[in-house]
Formats: sequence, structure tokens, C-alpha cells
Amino acid sequence: MDVTVKTLARDNAPGGTEVLHGLLRLQAIKSRGTAAHAARCAQYARALAEQLRLPADEIEAISVAALLHDLGKIEIPDSILQKPGPLTEKEWQSMRQHPVLSHRALAQLGGFSDVLPLVRHHHERFDGSGYPDGLSGEGIPSGSRLILVIDAFDAMTSDRPYRRAIPVADAAKELVRCSGSQFDPRVVRAFLLILCGLGHSRPLVLTRPGARPEGFSANGDDGPLADTWEPQSAQVV
Ligand SMILES: [Fe+2]
Repeated sequence: MDVTVKTLARDNAPGGTEVLHGLLRLQAIKSRGTAAHAARCAQYARALAEQLRLPADEIEAISVAALLHDLGKIEIPDSILQKPGPLTEKEWQSMRQHPVLSHRALAQLGGFSDVLPLVRHHHERFDGSGYPDGLSGEGIPSGSRLILVIDAFDAMTSDRPYRRAIPVADAAKELVRCSGSQFDPRVVRAFLLILCGLGHSRPLVLTRPGARPEGFSANGDDGPLADTWEPQSAQVV
């Protein structure tokens, strides 16, 4: 995170570091879970961007976008964010506003021009069925396609108010199942290489809040199932 903060201060408006710290603090005040999710996403995003050998300035923009992609959830009521059960259609409509809310908040602050499109489009799906703008394939910014994969992975492997985490191996299978529909297949392949410790980047150190460090191996032998949750889709919001 330090590199990201330093780079933001160098590349954006004066005071960028303070702005980023302030935004991260706001996220933490609103929801410690969202803040922890953002920090893990930034770690995964950097490793994945390096694995894909993206240019250095793009890696920095993706890292900052991964930290702030859910900033707009600050405007979503806790009754929806923390609801311990399935959301109604109306509540889903509110939740699906958060990429636009994140985009609007950062646009008003200024200094985040490289980050804005990545944040706005982090829920677009490769087949065009995502939101907010229904972009598809290469029309989705590459950083947003990357964030969608690591966002889904972290959501599946973390406890949420309405369900328990699933094991890393099951989450990896879900990424594969949704590759080509929800996710960019090239991004999924690169992330699986990192998970298996075969990638260009250092292997990720995966932890689940309040639980033991969790490993992942290519043969899927990563311990007993944590729960019986069977996702119909890797969709996360
Ligand atoms: Fe999101």
C-alpha cells in the first residue's frame, strides 16, 4: 500500500496522499469489512497486474482503483450493506449504484483521472451482462476486468453477513466456471497461476479474517470444506 500512496502523491494533485488516507479512513469508519476487503483487493490486484506484465503506471492506477472501487458504498444504507439475508430487488438496485457513486465521489475530488474508468466499470461482465453500462469484452477497461476477478475471489473466500466463506479451491473452480461469461479468460488464467505459486509474481499469502492462513495447491487439497454454500454465480457487489 505504501508504494501506491507514494505514487498517488507523485502523480496526482498536491495532497494526494492525505486525500487517499482520508478516503480509506472513511471506508473503515463506514465498514471495517469493506476496508479490509479493499486492502486485500489491492494486494491481489498488484500481483495480478504484475503477472500480466502491465506497464508500471497502469499497475499503480489498478492498485489505487482496487483500494477505492467500493468507496460509493459509503452512500448505501447499513440496513442494506449489513443485511443478514438475501436482498430484495429494490435493495439490489441500490447496491448496483455503488460503482457510479464511487466514480462520482472521486471525480468530484479530482486527481484520479486514470482511476475513474476502472472504478466505474468494475462490475461490467465479459459477456456484456454487467453494470452500470453493459460494456463487454475488450470494451471493458483491462484494469476493471482484473478487479472483477480479484473482487469476486475475495468475496467468495471471505465471510459475509449473509453467508460463510468458501475454500480457496472452490473459489478457483468458480472463477474457471464463469471464465468467458463473467470473467476475461486471460485474467482468470493469470490469477490461477499466482494462486498455484507458478506465476511471475510472488505467491499470495491468503488469509481469511479471524481464521487460519489458508493455502491453495494445484490438486485442490486445501483442507476441509468451510461450509456448504454453493454459489449460482460468482456475482459480487
Ligand atoms: Fe463493487
